[in-house]
Amino acid sequence: MNDSSNDPLFQPYQLGAITLPNRVLMAPLTRSRSSQPGDIPNDMNATYYRQRASAGLIIAEATQVSRQGKGYAFTPGIHSPEQVEGWRKVTDAVHASGGRIHLQLWHVGRISHPDLQPDGAKPVAPSAIKPEGAQTFVSADSGMVDIPEPRALETDEIPGIVEQFRSGAVNAKEAGFDGVEIHGANGYLIDQFIRSGTNRRADEYGGSIENRIRLPLMIAEAVMGVWGADRVGIRLSPTGSFNDMRDDDPVETYGKLGEKLGEIGIGYVEVVEDSFQGNHKSGRPESVIDAIRSGYTGPYIGNGNYDADEARERIRSGRCDLASFGRPFISNPDLPERFRRGAPLNEWDSDSFYGGDEHGYIDYPSLDESNAPA
Ligand code: PHB
Repeated sequence: MNDSSNDPLFQPYQLGAITLPNRVLMAPLTRSRSSQPGDIPNDMNATYYRQRASAGLIIAEATQVSRQGKGYAFTPGIHSPEQVEGWRKVTDAVHASGGRIHLQLWHVGRISHPDLQPDGAKPVAPSAIKPEGAQTFVSADSGMVDIPEPRALETDEIPGIVEQFRSGAVNAKEAGFDGVEIHGANGYLIDQFIRSGTNRRADEYGGSIENRIRLPLMIAEAVMGVWGADRVGIRLSPTGSFNDMRDDDPVETYGKLGEKLGEIGIGYVEVVEDSFQGNHKSGRPESVIDAIRSGYTGPYIGNGNYDADEARERIRSGRCDLASFGRPFISNPDLPERFRRGAPLNEWDSDSFYGGDEHGYIDYPSLDESNAPA
């Protein structure tokens, strides 16, 4: 029996302007497989996303809005005509298979290296604070390298950062996406502004919570100006520690941010509630989730190590509206169907997460290919 009529994961959902046929979303996943030079999406990337078109919504991988916003070798961009053309292959493939796809707009801030920056410049950040223990890779054979101390952005450079995101949003539209997600999580530029551990600025973009969330909100409004609020979301990671992140008071910080996101009416919020890359405390940060949702009452996507039953339970009890899945979607292109049938999942191979070829990327079998019992 495959009766999913009462299964919370298979109730359709109206996410702003788009109707999702199910609530099993594909989370943004860095896979570092764009064509070089130029960080250009290619046919192999199109095949990968097409294979996953049954997701309620695909949120495509973090994609740099500028050269300055790049932090790792082989990640794709959305700032050149060739990249727009490359992404067009991806969106066409997903749409031809009946899917929906957003692009995640990314600026890494301090999580970069002069070897990846225009003219070997220092990476930029709210404040000149080196991320302890954070690493990146700058080429196929560089291995992991330490990330140096960044340079603090000048106040008069802030409008240029907003413009990078606005322009990325325009290009994403040109490339045929259904909407965009602003990457405000995991220790990258927007997160560096939001959280007190990385933002020691004395101007209007640092200090108080209102000041720390000023740039994130300016970016959100600029992107919403391009797409309309109902096709724009933002991803947050209030208690993640990845990339040497911390905040003195996540309930206060994210409570205020949630309230402001509600005021401007952004289309959805996706929250990393538990990251495999590190958390300040174990278990879901329910008090922070409550703080966000008391101000932001729109669509809420829960992310972080849910299995199918936890996702069902959290949707049923109103803790989230939708759930996004990362690693399970890497190894199971037909993840919604497997959840619907209660079928076994393929295991993921972490050695092929970042960089490489088709192996560990487009060669994971779907149920039919692996002849699993229906
Ligand atoms: C990574 O490349 O490790 C990475 C990229 C984007 C994220 C998280 C991790 O949001």
